Amino acid sequence: MAQDTLTVTDNRTGKVYVIPIRYGTYPEYGASISAMDLRQIKVSENDFGLLSFDPGLTNTETTASAITFIDGERGILRYRGYPIEQLAEKSTFLEVAYLLIHGKLPTFAEFTDWTNKIVQNMLIHESIKKFLDGFHSNAHAMGVFVGTLGAKSTFYPAAKNVLDPKQRMRETINIIASVPTIAAYTYRHSCGLPYVYPDPSLSYIYNFLSMLFRMQPGKEEIYHNPVIERALDVLFILHADHEQNCSTTTMRTVGSALSDPYSAISAAAGALYGQLHGGANQEALEMLSQIGTKENIPAFIERVKNHETRLMGFGHRVYKNYDPRAKIIKKMADQVLEVTGPDPLIDVARELECIALSDEYFIKRKLYPNVDFYSGIIYKALGFPVDMFPVLFALARTAGWLSHWLELMGNEDERKIVRPRQQYVGEDVREYVPMDDRT
Ligand code: SDX
Repeated sequence: MAQDTLTVTDNRTGKVYVIPIRYGTYPEYGASISAMDLRQIKVSENDFGLLSFDPGLTNTETTASAITFIDGERGILRYRGYPIEQLAEKSTFLEVAYLLIHGKLPTFAEFTDWTNKIVQNMLIHESIKKFLDGFHSNAHAMGVFVGTLGAKSTFYPAAKNVLDPKQRMRETINIIASVPTIAAYTYRHSCGLPYVYPDPSLSYIYNFLSMLFRMQPGKEEIYHNPVIERALDVLFILHADHEQNCSTTTMRTVGSALSDPYSAISAAAGALYGQLHGGANQEALEMLSQIGTKENIPAFIERVKNHETRLMGFGHRVYKNYDPRAKIIKKMADQVLEVTGPDPLIDVARELECIALSDEYFIKRKLYPNVDFYSGIIYKALGFPVDMFPVLFALARTAGWLSHWLELMGNEDERKIVRPRQQYVGEDVREYVPMDDRT
């Protein structure tokens, strides 16, 4: 009997099936069977065949990807093979975006060309400002961001030519270039401030800070500070991609229908908006603010253990160890606060982490701080309102979403429209009852 197989006996029929076990490039990281191999297991000829039931896709590989590698048990994260710790220390967000999309680090000439193309495209269509002005000033920034990204698809009809690789790359550059401008205009609109145009002579991150904070009283010194610019660059690197998370799976799902990338990325941003996903950075900071002081932590922990609330910024579907990004962000928080001034919430966060990591409830469930636990403290220190926190996450994750979309669109074998099956548990067939006869 071949070793790399599963022998399955269907006890309903006594039939035995031999199912091949598939290994990826790294066998030590698990093996799988093709779900379609289950369909041959039937009780009769007209039986549809066996399916796998997996709500939340907790144990299902949906694709083979070469972009990001995560080892949840060992707390490892690599983009195209490069450890996140090295990229955070030595790279820049735009270089990481190039790496995710092209699969290699750029040469000087490639990086110069890439940077120029992006920085030259940061200006957005003037009509989009009218669209932004239609939102209430108190509209949640992420709702504005999601809506505006979707609206952009109406300005670029050629983006529908998703089967043209050159067109895909043009839209990829356009989207990476325009998201900082949309994010900054969203913020400026909420403050009732005039929009600041991008300046092609500035770097990508400095442009973003300038569009956000220029001419805003009390913010000038923030965006002129190189420590702040570097902190945002590193935060964007850390948030750039994370393999098949909820929002990236959404991007791939919408992309599989051959929708244009603006519609797909708007859907992905909508998924990231969720409080269990990218909305957790806002929830985590609001949670720390509600706790307020170290003295209130024990009572809060009790409420978590009684399932009355969740410890936002903790836990992860994949990481069952410390999220490597959280380690880097935790260190960065001290550097930023040295520049912007102390924030007592960092002490509450550290004490909360210390108590939680020594509590059996969290140890048993392998709950550790994730990327969202400390990032909100830094965003708050940089002067962002909490509703901008998920927008900052989405701005960075745009590079990841697009790299996965390009990988999907470039793979004709895997590029099948996503259409899962279901287990129907509703009513059996029944006759229509006229209104007068209904009780
Ligand atoms: C991100 O997928 C990604 O990669 C996402 C992300 C990315 O970069 O794209 O890493 C970004 O989304 C990070 C996660 C941000 N979300 C939060 O911080 C929200 C709080 N965390 C959770 O709600 C939760 O941990 C999830 C959603 C992140 C993961 O949930 P799972 O894997 O579905 O786990 P679960 O809900 O089934 O929980 C298992 C147990 C349960 O306890 P019991 O029912 O067994 O008693 O752990 C408990 C849960 O109650 N639990 C928590 C908890 N997270 C899980 N208990 C308290 N606080 C928490 N945060």
